[in-house]
Amino acid sequence: MGVSNTRVIAGERLIRYLPDQMEPSERLILRKPTLDDAEEFFANSGRHATVARHLDWQPHTSVGESRNFLRICLDDWDQEIAFSYVIAQKDAPQHVAGMVQLIPEGHSLGMILWISQPDWRHGYAIEVTRWLGKWAPARPEVWRIYTACPVENVAAVTAMQKVGWTTEGVLRRLRVFLNASSDPLDCVIFSRTSD
Ligand SMILES: CC(C)(COP(=O)(O)OP(=O)(O)OC[C@H]1O[C@@H](n2cnc3c(N)ncnc32)[C@H](O)[C@@H]1OP(=O)(O)O)[C@@H](O)C(=O)NCCC(=O)NCCS
Repeated sequence: MGVSNTRVIAGERLIRYLPDQMEPSERLILRKPTLDDAEEFFANSGRHATVARHLDWQPHTSVGESRNFLRICLDDWDQEIAFSYVIAQKDAPQHVAGMVQLIPEGHSLGMILWISQPDWRHGYAIEVTRWLGKWAPARPEVWRIYTACPVENVAAVTAMQKVGWTTEGVLRRLRVFLNASSDPLDCVIFSRTSD
């Protein structure tokens, strides 16, 4: 699983279309990003090393880098490699409160999520993930949605435990997160399936 800056080649992809906008809860929307999100994205997520520590992009040093990141996300939409959504409040849709990336891998969707630093601890991660865990496997082409959280990422692991997806176990030395370490890290796999 990986996206955008790292441009992972997906295998056979059965999942070919996801909607541009979704409503996971009363207060939140998921919407396709635009290049106009660059300033917000940079200010709240892109420049923060704490946000990027366990993600596969390096913290951005300028709005231009964030704009380029969003351009790659949009390119990935066009090529159906990955579908990135801005997480926003319904009553403040321009504020980038976070992003979630859904990556088709055959019959599975990989999920990578982050919340903008000023928006931590508002329950957004739990709200979005809980909804996606129901929405995705209800689609006929999706059998599985999953995410891999480094064991050392206590915030993400704790949040996912609260969400209530199945904890499948720990995969040893699964992936390198260059912002954290050059050694591959152990990751907890959380999933929801259609059965
Ligand atoms: C992990 C992350 C997504 C959590 O997002 P969030 O919207 O702040 O999480 P929520 O508000 O939904 O929190 C849910 C629960 O997770 C746990 N949690 C969240 N942040 C935590 C932290 N820093 N330390 C310990 N527990 C934490 C708490 O139990 C929290 O419930 P509470 O606020 O009622 O105590 C967010 O910290 C983030 O974006 N981190 C950087 C990116 C990242 O690591 N993404 C995951 C990649 S594997």
